[in-house]
Amino acid sequence: MSVPPLDLGAQYRQLRPALDAAIQRVLAEGNYIGGPEGEALEHELAQYLGVPEVVGVNSGTDALLLSLKALGVGAGDDVIVPGFTFFATAEAVSLAGARLCFADCAPGHFNIDAESVRQALTPRTKAVIAVHLFGQPVALDPLRDLCARQGLWLIEDAAQAIGARYRHRNIGSFGSTAAFSFYPTKNLGAFGDGGAIACCDPALAARLRRLRNHGRQSRYEHGEIGCNSRLDEIQAAILRVKLPLLDVWNEKRRRLAALYQEGLRDTACRWPPPVAGSIPVYHQFVVTHPERDALQAFLFKHGISSAVFYPIPCHLQPALAQSHAGLCLPRAERLAQEALALPIYPELSEESVMHITQLIRAFEGDVG
Ligand SMILES: Cc1ncc(COP(=O)(O)O)c(C=O)c1O
Repeated sequence: MSVPPLDLGAQYRQLRPALDAAIQRVLAEGNYIGGPEGEALEHELAQYLGVPEVVGVNSGTDALLLSLKALGVGAGDDVIVPGFTFFATAEAVSLAGARLCFADCAPGHFNIDAESVRQALTPRTKAVIAVHLFGQPVALDPLRDLCARQGLWLIEDAAQAIGARYRHRNIGSFGSTAAFSFYPTKNLGAFGDGGAIACCDPALAARLRRLRNHGRQSRYEHGEIGCNSRLDEIQAAILRVKLPLLDVWNEKRRRLAALYQEGLRDTACRWPPPVAGSIPVYHQFVVTHPERDALQAFLFKHGISSAVFYPIPCHLQPALAQSHAGLCLPRAERLAQEALALPIYPELSEESVMHITQLIRAFEGDVG
């Protein structure tokens, strides 16, 4: 049996008539950027997330960058981000002109540690970005307390976690803003790039809408320097077809994750338990294994694609290593050596998961 890392065409095949009709509707209306689909999607996402405002943009990276700009974070400010995340989280801070400060993961978890954030504080710290990595909610209570006590903005990087919940609320409703990505592989994926920002403050949302559109305050009047980061109508129409199915797809991911956990009990694989009061959405199902590279090669030999997220933590990336020389984040660095993402997507069969867990047991039998 061979298992691909993803099957992006599967959702198209499943929803083909509705998706084709949505795309045709946009083509026929002739309104490709800034129209009714984008507005409707913003409204539907706001309802889904339980927030008053959602602003569509053209990527998760821009959702982070524009969040920082709209909150007034830039040159002279420090922003704390996890060392163990996709590079875009850190990149957005540098693009905003602020200085990056890195925090380590919580013990036994992939996500940022509130205590490590506390240690990374400086007199210039203005914001903290909490990344709900792999679809696992961050333990937000201690971070929110810390940010409230220190007067810091808390930004959620929810690129990998749409639909996840914490304390009976949707992820994305806790920070001053939250950034979502609709990159095709995400739990809610477009057929191109896309992103959105959730927030509760209408004035902040109005500023975000100006910033995504060249700082425009009227057609040819530009109140500030913004950028071009609009979510196009075709992507919005596609996302509107998919959004009603997101919870069903996320439930399927949780079912597959539970099967992995059952099948890998008593192996050398480890995975973090969800933090108290949270419901994850398993954008990835990631385990740590002391023989990670050998296990990945063994799975590959047997037709199973797995992936390493992330082999180099942000503070050690060539683009940043010089400015962070000497910084050591032991938990992030260890995860870079040991973390392995096993295939998980709603269309993956339960038989495939059971087959993969049996292969991992066979690997350990061989190794042991
Ligand atoms: C944690 C995280 N943050 C930000 C991003 C950036 O999103 P995008 O690719 O839509 O710019 C991603 C995308 O992979 C991500 O995984």
